[in-house]
Amino acid sequence: MAVSAHPQMTLTTPLHGEGARYDASLRLSVAPMMDWTDRHCRVFHRILAPGARLYTEMVHANAVIHGDRERLLGFDAAEQPLALQLGGSEPAALAQAARIAADWGYAEVNLNCGCPSDRVQAGRFGACLMREPALVAECVAAMVAAVDIPITVKCRLGVDEDNDYDLFAAFVDGQVQAGAAMVVVHARNAWLKGLSPKENREIPPLRYDWAYRLKQERPSLPVVINGGIASVQAAQAHMQQLDGVMLGRAAYHDPYVLHALEAAQTGMALRSREALLVEMRPYIEARLEAGLALKHITRHLLGLFHGQPGGRAFRQILSEGAHRPGAGWDLLEQALQVTRLQAARVA
Ligand SMILES: Cc1cc2nc3c(=O)[nH]c(=O)nc-3n(C[C@H](O)[C@H](O)[C@H](O)COP(=O)(O)O)c2cc1C
Repeated sequence: MAVSAHPQMTLTTPLHGEGARYDASLRLSVAPMMDWTDRHCRVFHRILAPGARLYTEMVHANAVIHGDRERLLGFDAAEQPLALQLGGSEPAALAQAARIAADWGYAEVNLNCGCPSDRVQAGRFGACLMREPALVAECVAAMVAAVDIPITVKCRLGVDEDNDYDLFAAFVDGQVQAGAAMVVVHARNAWLKGLSPKENREIPPLRYDWAYRLKQERPSLPVVINGGIASVQAAQAHMQQLDGVMLGRAAYHDPYVLHALEAAQTGMALRSREALLVEMRPYIEARLEAGLALKHITRHLLGLFHGQPGGRAFRQILSEGAHRPGAGWDLLEQALQVTRLQAARVA
């Protein structure tokens, strides 16, 4: 299939554009976040939001091919539906990595076209790929041809001073024609020079209207929005216009928002923070038994009582105590006890 949507596109491999369909019934997802959304974090998020789509941290295609697969790709069955996010820009390597991901049982492979870090730019992947739509389309087409799970793309609105909706839409169209089943729009530009990755999540202004327009003009394309969404109300407002919302930092720092959003969407009864934490116990004990230190799990739990009486004490007890040798479930009991006491004092 020829791609005409983008004037700079000249393809060297044919596109077929017939990838697996994306299941748009899952409307909530948790963003891929390096160093944060590891497998322990995802098990916790799964308990909070049983119907959310979860993403791994970004893994480079070459690491998938040559690295320690159990460490990079291993996951718990409870994490499903789970997507692997890949970084890279070589079609053959991405196709091979996608095949490995499909064999491991991942439900989706997502290509990172949004990370602005210097290291990633130097490797010619992430957000700088928004300047190379034809190459990205080749990557997508190669992955689509290799697997029968959905291939999706996570991108920004543009890079640096780009301020051209048509360029953004043409980028997306190119990927869809190559077979991408869904696009996650982090609704701001990436500034490739002068901003750190952290600043790149805060300073370039958010423009949700571009994602809305993209969807209005392409009703059959699943569009998921990401960037600065921190409350149930905000998420639900986006869901009125789009197929889904992806929460990043809010899900990590205030994870109960995931549960509240899932409950608001599905009508299920809200469970207490304590009940949700206790559901982690068998997982935590099994991992401790296997030799993992408690701190590797508890670091993801610190925000559970965010904004609640005792929330600070909960965080403090876990962050101080989990480093001690032999720390176990009783530390979590102790932290819970303090939040109970402080909540009772406020009530
Ligand atoms: C610690 C951290 C690591 C991140 N790592 C990735 C990553 O590996 N891949 C990616 O596409 N985005 C990554 N992001 C960006 C998030 O996926 C998301 O696009 C961004 O945080 C905006 O969403 P938010 O405002 O809901 O946090 C990362 C963000 C954070 C805070």
